Amino acid sequence: MKKRILVSGGAGYIGSHVTVELLEAGYEVVVADNMSNCDRSGFEGVRQITGKEDIPFVEMDFCDAAAVERLFDEYRIDAVIHFAAFKAVGESVAEPIKYYRNNLTSLLNVLEAARSHGGCNILFSSSATVYGEAAELPVTEQSPRLPATSPYGNTKQICEDMLRDTVASDRSIRGIALRYFNPIGAHPSALIGELPRGVPNNLVPYITQTAIGKRSCLSIFGNDYPTPDGTCLRDYIDIVDLARAHVAAVTRMVEGRMKEDYEIFNVGTGRPVSVLELVSAFEQVNGLKLNYRFADRRPGDVVAIWADTSLANRELGWTARRTLAETLASAWAWEKHLAGR
Ligand code: UFG
Repeated sequence: MKKRILVSGGAGYIGSHVTVELLEAGYEVVVADNMSNCDRSGFEGVRQITGKEDIPFVEMDFCDAAAVERLFDEYRIDAVIHFAAFKAVGESVAEPIKYYRNNLTSLLNVLEAARSHGGCNILFSSSATVYGEAAELPVTEQSPRLPATSPYGNTKQICEDMLRDTVASDRSIRGIALRYFNPIGAHPSALIGELPRGVPNNLVPYITQTAIGKRSCLSIFGNDYPTPDGTCLRDYIDIVDLARAHVAAVTRMVEGRMKEDYEIFNVGTGRPVSVLELVSAFEQVNGLKLNYRFADRRPGDVVAIWADTSLANRELGWTARRTLAETLASAWAWEKHLAGR
C-alpha cells in the first residue's frame, strides 16, 4: 500500500513544492491549509504539474483541535509534514501572541492527534534562525541554539522542543526537524512559487518585484558588515532541492531507517553568498540591471550564516543540486508568470 503523507500548510510556498515532489516520488498526499497566507493557485499549480486531479485537499485550521482529530480519523496517515505556521519576523515582534498561539497550538494539535491515533512520524519545518549569530561557521546540528531574537524564531525553538519531548515520552511518535537556511526560487515549470502578500520581507521576491517594476528600488540593508563586500552572507537553498530533502527525510521515517527517534538536519547548500553577489548573479543570469541602493542595516539581521550539510548529505543521501543561476532564473520566470496571469 502506498504511504500517505499529510502536508499541513500544503498550499503555501514550501508546502506546494514539497507536495509535488512527494507525488512524483509515489506518495499519496493529503493537503490541508487554512489559506490564511496563500490562494488556490498554489494547489492548482500542483495539480497541473503532476497531472493529478484527485489530490485530497482539506481547508481547515490546525489550531482547531477537533478538526485535526477528524482529519486523522478520516485518513490513515503515515507521516505529517507540518508547515502550517506564521513566518514573518517583523510581524511576530508586533504581534507575539498571534504567533505563539498559532505556531504552538497547531503543532500541539498535530502531536495530540498523532498520539490519540496510535502514533505517527512528524517532520517539523524549522529554521536556521535557531542558531542566531553563530560563533563558528558553518553551523552543524550540534552548534548551540542561541536565544531567539524574535517571537517567530522563538516559536521554532519551542516547537522543536515540543516535538523532541513528545518523541521521548512516546515510542509510537518519531520526529525530524529540518532547519532550513534561505529557501529561494520556484519550480522549473514556473507554475508554483513564492506569493508574498504586500511588500516582500525577503530578498529574492523583493529583487524580482523590483526587476518587473512593481517596486522602484531594492534597498540593500547594510554594506558595512565585516564580510568580504560588506553585505550579509546567507546560504540560499533552492526550493526544489529543499522539497527533495523533505522526501528523503520522510522516506527515512516511514521506512524505519532513523538512527534516533528524534533527528535534526540542516538543509542548505553549505555555500555562503552575499547580498551583492546574489544581486549580481540575478542580473547576469537574467540579462538585466537592477535598481538598488545601500540602506541602513536591518535590525535583527545576523551578519553571516551558512550550513554544514554533511549530516544531511550522509544520512539522507541528499544534496543540493540546482545552481544559483538556475534558481535565480526560476525566480524570475515565476515573477514573469505572475505578471502575465
Ligand atoms: N535584504 C536586503 N533587502 C531586502 C530584503 C533582504 O538587503 O529588501 C537582505 C537582508 O538584510 C539579509 C538578506 O538580504 O542580509 C536575506 O534576507 P531575507 O529577509 O531574505 O532572509 P533572512 O536571512 O533575514 O531570513 C531568514 C528566513 C526567516 C528567518 C530569518 C532569521 O527567511 O524565516 O532568516 O534570521 F527567520
